[in-house]
Amino acid sequence: MITERPETRTQSIESLLESLEAGDYSRDNLRRCLLCRGEDQASLFDLARARRDAAFPAHEVETRSVIELSNVCQQSCNYCSMAKESKLKRYVMKVDPLMAQVDFLYSIGRRVILLQSGENDSKNFVEYAAKCVTEVKRRYPELEVILCLGNLSHDQYVRLKEAGADRYILKFESSSPSLYSTWKPSDTLDQRLACLQDLIDIGYKVGTGNMVGMPGQSMDDVIDDLQLLGKYDLSMMSCTVFIPGEMCNYHDQPMGDVEIALNYMALMRIMHPTRLMPTTSCLERGKKGGQLAGLMAGANTVTIHDGTPDEFKNLFPIYSTDRCSPGFARCEAMVRESGLTFGKAPLI
Ligand code: 5AD
Repeated sequence: MITERPETRTQSIESLLESLEAGDYSRDNLRRCLLCRGEDQASLFDLARARRDAAFPAHEVETRSVIELSNVCQQSCNYCSMAKESKLKRYVMKVDPLMAQVDFLYSIGRRVILLQSGENDSKNFVEYAAKCVTEVKRRYPELEVILCLGNLSHDQYVRLKEAGADRYILKFESSSPSLYSTWKPSDTLDQRLACLQDLIDIGYKVGTGNMVGMPGQSMDDVIDDLQLLGKYDLSMMSCTVFIPGEMCNYHDQPMGDVEIALNYMALMRIMHPTRLMPTTSCLERGKKGGQLAGLMAGANTVTIHDGTPDEFKNLFPIYSTDRCSPGFARCEAMVRESGLTFGKAPLI
């Protein structure tokens, strides 16, 4: 847990933001920004939005619909309720109901879909995922397909790319090898980063990111995460705040600090103005209005949970069984309140 608290200010927020604008992302500057609260935090967010709006002058939010293909997972993440050991009923969606969902999403104007699953590198599953992508692209060539399926082999990533997938999200979770192995004992950071590099080399548009407020994580670890983001050629970046889901091994750990996560998002935006960055529903779990605050901190992507059939929705409890997933109307109101509009999706 991050225990540091805001210190007495030695430098005005104006001069701190000026040095950020000039590209000084020193450890000390980043630390001060991560600890900002109140009016200072509002000024940090102002700069983040100014950077976003200069890079994305249409003031649009990318609207994604997520379809949770399967909750079968081979990993043993201590923070996740879908870990291999969890006594969750497992499912893999059939191709026909999946396509019915895609038809529906297309008909209401969605043009970006996120196909997500537990980490499963079995030959059968990857072949199935490739079939799904092929069929989606055959029916709707202009539908942008993002995959989030975890660590796979180089050849499996190539197979999915050739099937037509456009983008891939693979979070590095933590830049610290020891934290990574503690949180995710079935994997190593080296392995994860090798997968990330494969995805970039193969030509996907790639997204990655971390979690903030995790057990054992210090402020320096979070700053290292920010710096790692600068080392990869990415089109998307993201940060979630730790939610102690009821069914995960870390269920009795404290929730992460939402303010630090929001400040982290603002810094990601300032450092990387042209990347897509989501505001996630876990921010809302952390505090009321948290997801809107993510847009105010520079996010420009919203994921709508309207792609997974009801029968499977409760079987994909990434953060929590009581996952807060706002519907379209709430998302639309939130986006409007932030001064942005939905892109790639006419209002319904
Ligand atoms: N709290 C916050 N983020 C989480 N994730 C998974 N479990 C949690 C949790 N309990 C994030 C991880 C993962 C992504 C799908 O969700 O970063 O890669």
